[in-house]
Amino acid sequence: MKPIAARIRDFPTTVFTEFSALAQKHQAVNLGQGFPDFDGPEEIREAAVRAVRGGVNQYAVSSGAVVLKEAVAEHALRFYGQKVDPGSEVIVTNGATEALFDVTLGLVDPGDEVIVFEPYYDSYVANVTMAGGVPRYVLLRPPDADHARWWYDPAELEAQFTSKTKFILLNTPHNPTGKVFDRAELEHIASLCIRHDVLAVADEVYEHITFEPARHVRLATIPGMAERTITISSGGKSFSFTGWKVGWAIGTPALCSAVQKTHQFVTFAVAGPMQHAIAEALRLPDAYFIELAQSYRKKRDLLVEMLDTVGLRPIAPDGAYFVMAQIGHLGFPDDFEFCRYLTRDIGVAAIPPTAFYAEHHRVHGSHLARFAFCKRDETLLSAREKLLARLSAK
Ligand SMILES: Cc1ncc(COP(=O)(O)O)c(C=O)c1O
Repeated sequence: MKPIAARIRDFPTTVFTEFSALAQKHQAVNLGQGFPDFDGPEEIREAAVRAVRGGVNQYAVSSGAVVLKEAVAEHALRFYGQKVDPGSEVIVTNGATEALFDVTLGLVDPGDEVIVFEPYYDSYVANVTMAGGVPRYVLLRPPDADHARWWYDPAELEAQFTSKTKFILLNTPHNPTGKVFDRAELEHIASLCIRHDVLAVADEVYEHITFEPARHVRLATIPGMAERTITISSGGKSFSFTGWKVGWAIGTPALCSAVQKTHQFVTFAVAGPMQHAIAEALRLPDAYFIELAQSYRKKRDLLVEMLDTVGLRPIAPDGAYFVMAQIGHLGFPDDFEFCRYLTRDIGVAAIPPTAFYAEHHRVHGSHLARFAFCKRDETLLSAREKLLARLSAK
C-alpha cells in the first residue's frame, strides 16, 4: 500500500526543519529561518489583547473582517495610489502562504503552466504541483561584470511564455536574493503578460523593507496590470508578527472570487483578534514604515560587513531581510555541506539555497549561502563574534 498521495509523495521535508534542528543541537546563532527574534509594535500587541478581551472571538467573516479589508484598501491608496474596493477586491487569508495556495488552486487547471523566477520561495512550486500545473523557470543571476544587481535574461523570460501559461509568479522584494524589481523590469514583465494574455501573482510581503535608492513598485500599478494582477501581502514582515499569519490578496472581483472559492474550504476564516490588530498596524503613521526600513538597513550593513570580513562574499541586497553570500571559493562540495559545517563547527546557522531551485538547476545555488538579518543587534553581534573567532582562523 502507498498511503501518501502521488501529488505530494516526492515533496522533501523543508530545509528549515533540518537546519533549525541542527542549530538547536549545536546551540548555533540562528541566521537561518526568516523570522524576527524581536516583537512587533507594543500598541499593536495591545490592540490584539483588546480585541480578545472585547469579544472578537467567534468565526470572522470568511473573506475577512470589514475593518481589515478597509485598512488594506486605505494602505494601498496611501502607499501606491492604488484604488481598491474593500468589499469586493480584498480576501483575507492565513498569511501570504494561504493566499498563494488559494490563488494557485483557484486559477490553475491540470497542465497549465506557471512561470517562476529561481531561486523561489519554496511553497510556490509545491502549490503549482498540487494543482496539477507545470512550473516554468527563469533564473535570477547574481551581479557580474555587466550587471550591478541580480538580473534575468529578458529572452529567457520571453521564451517561457507559451499558450499554456496561466500566470507569472513574481516576488518583489525578493526572497532570498533581496532583488527589488525596478520599474523597467516590471514594465517588461507587464508587456509580456499583456501580449500573451497572462495573469500575474505578485508576492509583495517585503514591500516595506527596501533600501534606498531601491524603491518598491507594486506590479498592479503598472499600466494594464490592475485587471490581471493578484497582489499578495501580509502582516508578518511589515509588522514583525510572522506568527500571527494574517495575509491578504488584492485583485479584481473575478480574481478574488477564485481565491475566495478555495479559501472558504481550506480555512474558511482567519483569527478575528489578529485581523483587528493588523488593521490598526496598517494605519500606523508613515514614520513607522520609514523607521522599519532604516533599522533593517543598519542590520543589513552589519551582516554584510561581518560576512565580508571573514572572507565570505556577500551580495548586498536592495530589499527583504536576507543576504546571499558567495561561498564557492571556500572549497566545500556544495551549499548543504558548507551550511552544516557553519552551523555545527562555527555555531552560526545559514540556509543552503539550492533548496529554492528546481532539481536540474541546483548548480546555480550550490555556491551560495543565505543569511537572515531580521534579528536583534545582540544576535547579529554574537554571530559576528563566532564568525570572527572561528571562521577567519580557518
Ligand atoms: C517570499 C515570501 N512569500 C510568502 C511568505 C509567507 O508569508 P506569511 O508568513 O504571511 O504566510 C514568506 C515568508 O517567509 C516569504 O518569504
